[in-house]
Amino acid sequence: MLPLAELHLHIEGTLESDLLVELARRNGVLLPTYDPAELTARYGNFADLQAFLDVYYANLAVLATEEDFHDLAAAYLARAAAAGVRRAEIFCDPQTHLRNGVPLEVVFGGLGAALAEARASGMSADLIVCFLRDLGADAAEELLRGALPFREHFIGVGLDSAELGWPPRLFRTAYEIAAAEGLHRVAHAGEEGGPEFVREALDVLGVERIDHGNRALEDPDLVARLRDERVPLTVCPLSNVALKGVARIEDHPLPRMLELGLVATVNSDDPAYFGGGIDANVAAVRTKLGLTDDDLSVLARNSFEAAFVHDADRTRWLAEVDAWSGSPSP
Ligand code: ADE
Ligand code: ZN
Repeated sequence: MLPLAELHLHIEGTLESDLLVELARRNGVLLPTYDPAELTARYGNFADLQAFLDVYYANLAVLATEEDFHDLAAAYLARAAAAGVRRAEIFCDPQTHLRNGVPLEVVFGGLGAALAEARASGMSADLIVCFLRDLGADAAEELLRGALPFREHFIGVGLDSAELGWPPRLFRTAYEIAAAEGLHRVAHAGEEGGPEFVREALDVLGVERIDHGNRALEDPDLVARLRDERVPLTVCPLSNVALKGVARIEDHPLPRMLELGLVATVNSDDPAYFGGGIDANVAAVRTKLGLTDDDLSVLARNSFEAAFVHDADRTRWLAEVDAWSGSPSP
């Protein structure tokens, strides 16, 4: 199996319907239906990012205790390991849980316990705390100050949720604080927002990777910069189709990104909602976009190049990609 780093994955977006129902029962939370298949069937046709986010945030009311957060992350990490993921850099949205009355120690305690177990069984995993951009800049700074006492639980900050109307420059101060703390910095940009959002994320927030970045392709100068500076893009093909950024998987720009020499990677974003994990995304780009085994090894290499890891780990995983390239298997 192709060894990969998964770099764009919202832990809240891994809440599969069967666990959603189990947690709702555990915590006495009302759901529109308790039939997991019916819940999943409702995810079939989101109009756009906001339509998805409305469902995603509503479902998160089922997460209440450390055990719940542990179970959520443990289930993802087991699936990811089985799909060939060696390294997972996992987004979490603590502001959602704070809004639901769940304190940070519960979120970090539960997720941290699951990550510690995964590390003990040989996987590499870390958390990236995301700011919900539609809650604004003051809330982002407040979250970061509140999260710093839990600094050992996360390696970086990100920016997610509704993009349109929330340009990266609003979050300059939060990212300056993060940089001063030695945290890695990434941001969603160019998923629905235009290429100027990608530029601002680079120039104002100082991000090391762009999450999505699809709309950067509209600006040739920006493409040249991303290529020359080897700025990684964490691309999520099935998500882009599910949220209507791309009409059909066959139209996805990933092959063009590779042709242009961009450091593109494949990721699952919110696998419980968009038709599957990183393995389903790899299968889709292989079968529907015609990517070759050579292309897949480039994507795998890019993922380890883009990961926030020590060089010794990177070298070991790149050697595994070389071995896979010698005798590719699904
Ligand atoms: N939060 C979870 N998934 C997201 C996505 N695809 N874009 C922005 N915010 C998100
Ligand atoms: Zn995302």
